[in-house]
Amino acid sequence: MHGRTELTERFRREFGAEPRLYRAPGRVNLIGDHTDYSDGFVLPAALEQSTWIAAAARPDRRLRMRSLHGGPTAEFDLDDPAPAPRHDWTDYVHGVAVMLQRAGHALAGADLLIDSDVPIGAGLSSSAALEIATGFALLGSAGLPIDRTALALCGQRAENEFVGMLCGIMDQFISCHGSSAHALLLDCRSLDFRLVPIAASVRLVICNSMAHHQHAGGEYNLRRAECERGVALLAARLPGIRALRDVSMADLAAHAAALPELTFRRCRHVVSENDRVLRAAAALEAGEVEEFGRLMNASHASLRDDYEVSCRELDVLAELALGIDGVLGSRMTGGGFGGCTVSMVRAEAVERFCEAIAAGYAAATGIEAKILVCSPGDGAGVVTA
Ligand code: GLA
Repeated sequence: MHGRTELTERFRREFGAEPRLYRAPGRVNLIGDHTDYSDGFVLPAALEQSTWIAAAARPDRRLRMRSLHGGPTAEFDLDDPAPAPRHDWTDYVHGVAVMLQRAGHALAGADLLIDSDVPIGAGLSSSAALEIATGFALLGSAGLPIDRTALALCGQRAENEFVGMLCGIMDQFISCHGSSAHALLLDCRSLDFRLVPIAASVRLVICNSMAHHQHAGGEYNLRRAECERGVALLAARLPGIRALRDVSMADLAAHAAALPELTFRRCRHVVSENDRVLRAAAALEAGEVEEFGRLMNASHASLRDDYEVSCRELDVLAELALGIDGVLGSRMTGGGFGGCTVSMVRAEAVERFCEAIAAGYAAATGIEAKILVCSPGDGAGVVTA
């Protein structure tokens, strides 16, 4: 991360114009993983860590982009009749431009210079931060108004249809709608949401396992397919269901015999996780942080055992956390197969927690975890100051 002044100066040198700055945050999900693509519930918070884009309109139809993190300037034509992904980071930018245009936005050509302090490949949604910052930069440069929910959907479409990752709506939505000191309870079907204040007595601590297992994308799409299979089989017995969101634990128990064992466990994770999210949001609103912590722990166990998206490094981190005084709960966060855990820790225990978890993780794995005490930040916007 290079700082705003440097980003602006580099832009002037590189592109010879005066930029505006746009920012979109990464996210940490407190509870509700692998539920968004089943029309379920999630409870993420936006991070202060963000992607920053310096941007200025161009008089032609070119989109030029460069990252301060390396690589040459890439260039695309907004009128390309057959835009194709290159299988690198520019796909997120290019994909958002394509989807915004398909949604009817009259974009202008633009130069973009990109910087980010969202760790890449750590499950903190660096790609959603890039997509949403791009959306703000492209709409802003063209002088067009921004509808945050519509932009979140465009970002998701870019990832689904251009990048080829069948993600849900959570990451783009929280990057657009996050609010400092709050988590956000989102109904991924209606897109209704409610901000939930995070108790001042606790901190959210993110532990980056530094593990990143390569098969994550393929496994993600497979999990999604398992959920769809479960719905197809259950629909014969539960007419009217459209997604696992419509299935209760009682329904699932009653029709367990209709599902292969693996499909049943995948479905049980999603159905039980939806229930945990709603209970967790209510607990947080009532200041019942102990209950919130218990639900986080149950969520981790379900992701580990039923959904099988955790990995040894994440399990080590979650387990170590539970042995430290002042920890209310701990779980993997995001897609899994590496990345981070999030722990809810009593404010006065944070320092001790950071030391103990770093030492314990290094002893168990030989890896140095990166630890981040997070203060939930605001959603995307134009940077004015
Ligand atoms: C990734 C996806 C999200 C969500 C999470 C798991 O971050 O982008 O849509 O499915 O995994 O909760």
